[in-house]
Amino acid sequence: MCGIVGYLGEERAAPVLLDGLEKLEYRGYDSAGVALWQDKKIAVVRRKGRVCELVCARSLAGNAGVGHTRWATHGAPSERNAHPHRFGAVCLVHNGILENAAALKEECLARGEVFSSDTDSEVAAHLMNAFLAEESDLLRAVKRACELLSGSYAFAVLAEGREEIVCARMHSPLVVARGTDGVFAASDLCAVAAEGRSAYVLEDGEFARLTKEGAELFDSALRPVERTFFALAAQQAAPEKGSFAHFMRKEIEEVPSAIENTLSGLPDLLNSHLYEVLCQTEYLHIVACGTAYHSGLCMKAVVEKFARVPTQVFVASEYRYCDPIVPEHTLTVAISQSGETADTLAAAQLALERGSRLLAVTNVEHSSLNRLAQHVLPTRAGREVAVAATKSFNAQLAVLYSLAAALAAGRGRRVPSPAALAVLARETLCASGRVAAWTPYFQGARSVFFLGRGADRCAALEGSLKLKEISYLPSEGYAAGELKHGTLALVDGATPVVAVITDPQLADKTMNAVHEVYARGAAVFLVTPFEELCAAQEVTASVRIPRCEPAYSPILSVIPLQLLAYHVSLALGHDPDKPRNLAKSVTVE
Ligand code: AGP
Repeated sequence: MCGIVGYLGEERAAPVLLDGLEKLEYRGYDSAGVALWQDKKIAVVRRKGRVCELVCARSLAGNAGVGHTRWATHGAPSERNAHPHRFGAVCLVHNGILENAAALKEECLARGEVFSSDTDSEVAAHLMNAFLAEESDLLRAVKRACELLSGSYAFAVLAEGREEIVCARMHSPLVVARGTDGVFAASDLCAVAAEGRSAYVLEDGEFARLTKEGAELFDSALRPVERTFFALAAQQAAPEKGSFAHFMRKEIEEVPSAIENTLSGLPDLLNSHLYEVLCQTEYLHIVACGTAYHSGLCMKAVVEKFARVPTQVFVASEYRYCDPIVPEHTLTVAISQSGETADTLAAAQLALERGSRLLAVTNVEHSSLNRLAQHVLPTRAGREVAVAATKSFNAQLAVLYSLAAALAAGRGRRVPSPAALAVLARETLCASGRVAAWTPYFQGARSVFFLGRGADRCAALEGSLKLKEISYLPSEGYAAGELKHGTLALVDGATPVVAVITDPQLADKTMNAVHEVYARGAAVFLVTPFEELCAAQEVTASVRIPRCEPAYSPILSVIPLQLLAYHVSLALGHDPDKPRNLAKSVTVE
């Protein structure tokens, strides 16, 4: 996803901007650029490709500037479409999607204005330039332009001859920060955490003006407002890989501590205001995307087994357009590692509008979703840098299982404690090293199937997503019992199959599916606690994981699947941390 950095202060801006962009690289992008304010002119350097291509900009003069990493939405990845975009005296960077850009562009073209890119963002520069000529005040010019825009935006805007950076935010995160040597703007705290001392996350509709005097904040009517800046802690700075080759491998190693820290960081749910809400809850709705959606499926398995509360899990991008039925006493749980996913934010907003209580489960303290929700339960997985979610998934399950236990307790029903899961995760991690040997069977695969029943199907879905998003191999997570109703036609010697079997009640049934695929020539790989299944002749290789409550098992069985994806991605020559086309946080629709 796109990244923004802005700086104005006593230092030369170029190094600050480039260092900040490097900390945003994990978000995923395809081009980058910086603009340096040099009083009557603005120097712009843009490149298709990585931030390191901007090395020539590092020596540029100017104590104010903006930088951007672009994840292409409108207009192909290219230098001409890279930000910053300028027109006339204005130069800007933009995150988000301007949904009415085409119509506004037509109006600019009718005025004889010439465009130099295929992006929606450039339209904003044209509008701001026109209003600047009228207003002779950049803040007012930006506001007037924003009034014409629909969609989402985070802007950081420069203008020739004006030593200031104007920022605006609507449905796309933007932070302003104060440091000892200047003021900053960024789309993500990690870009400024090392430099800034305190920060404020702009609300939708708010503006900021960064000058040598500091950061001024304004409401949507440009009335000055006072807001509380929170202290920036060192841990919000970008983490390092340490001795690991990739963040993803480091973050898988951190899974047990992520579970442990999350469980120990949870409040006593049975003695909280949230508990009253849980006791009154008659329906549970879960909205999320991707991996977070899979953790929602895992929660459904536990809640319906133990608390017996009807639970629906929605893909957030579907929920927001399905005119959802939200009965009275519905609690909606919005799950999001970043807390900035546009689809999940929109679904959560809709749930509120339909009268639901809203609980957020996120990994980022000052995220938009946390600010939207009435209740927040944080995962404490630590910064997750790799695009592929790993430890945040396990940490989400730690929260969701605890929440399910509180829901059950409110109904006088008991559930096994999740307290031991961190220790079991450590054992699982130790046992999972052997999946590296599976890699050759997957490297040449035409496609891969992950099978499971019940909670094991949730783990299979997540294992499949991990593999495809970083190895680019076609892969599908499938209900083991459903395979024979069509998809079995795809199975042959070029389609290795991973089966997850942790529920003794379902083991024989899933083994039927193993027999079916084995009979069609597929190599079978097993994740199970049951030694007798590992010895089956149909099984090429297996990982034995510790036994636990079967409904909790995805928090363990996913670990070898995370590692499998990592090894296959490496074997195929990819960068597991930065898979093509993907972003860590999808802040656009
Ligand atoms: C998972 O590995 C992907 N990175 C992606 O599916 C992700 O889970 C999804 O975009 C949701 O992100 P969020 O948890 O930050 O909302």
